[in-house]
Amino acid sequence: MVIGIDIGSTTTKVAAVNTEKDIIKVKTRAVDPITSATGAFGKLLVENHLSLGNIERINITGVGAAKIPGDLFGIRTNRIDEMTAIGTGGKHLAKKDRIIIANIGTGTAILEVNNGKITHLGGTGVGGGTIIGLAHEMLSLSDYDTIMCYAAKGDLKNIDLHIGDIAESNIGFLNREYTASNFGKIVETASKEDLAAGILNLTYQVIGMVSVFAAKSKNNDTIVVTGNGSKNPIGQRILNSISKMYQIHYEFPADAEYATAIGAAKS
Ligand SMILES: Nc1ncnc2c1ncn2[C@@H]1O[C@H](COP(=O)(O)OP(=O)(O)OP(=O)(O)O)[C@@H](O)[C@H]1O
Ligand SMILES: [Mg+2]
Repeated sequence: MVIGIDIGSTTTKVAAVNTEKDIIKVKTRAVDPITSATGAFGKLLVENHLSLGNIERINITGVGAAKIPGDLFGIRTNRIDEMTAIGTGGKHLAKKDRIIIANIGTGTAILEVNNGKITHLGGTGVGGGTIIGLAHEMLSLSDYDTIMCYAAKGDLKNIDLHIGDIAESNIGFLNREYTASNFGKIVETASKEDLAAGILNLTYQVIGMVSVFAAKSKNNDTIVVTGNGSKNPIGQRILNSISKMYQIHYEFPADAEYATAIGAAKS
């Protein structure tokens, strides 16, 4: 069995890969890299009644990987380039050979997978960390699920400037409901709910457009979304509305938050 450990900026994910069908996963919040990696690894062993003897190799990746010295627990431990891990994991989960990946973690990385070739195209610092940071400062909220509850009840008409606010008719292919300016019409009476909705919309619309431009530049119409940010139902809805505008398909595979860890294990 090969263990993939992805020590991200916010969370650490571990995947144990045995056969194609059999992938075991656990997740912990990232503290320092050694504590989160060994903690998540230990949790995986204990919860699944595995012993160190079952583990043939450990492949670590993510921003914290460089902080882990030598071999873990005397097991051969390899460092895997994070983009290679994201590309390998995204391709495995999507079960497709030609895709664009938008990995929404604390920030967002955009990659192209073209058969065996993985290319890091770029990305944006707008990602899950943007939601956490802005919600903390603007709403004094730090619990992720609470932020989502607020966002689900918010009204973007009190926050964003829409095409319909500034133009009598559609502008080119942009119809009246589309955003002309995120936070461009914030009203004095905007509620916490409205602000939370605006933060989510800003974040996912930026990620959506950056990934659309990447896909268009590579003549690809399939964007596979990975990272913890792929599980967000509000985010998925925002990305799906962009997909209709630009004839792009977003895919949200199961276990997408473990894509990097799975990819590390398979590298
Ligand atoms: N229950 C949760 N608690 C905290 N954050 C969550 C939760 N669910 C989703 N998130 C979001 O996930 C983001 C982190 O995603 P992820 O764990 O994929 O990033 P990471 O791998 O640690 O970071 P990176 O890959 O950018 O180094 C957070 O910024 C937050 O927006
Ligand atoms: Mg990550």
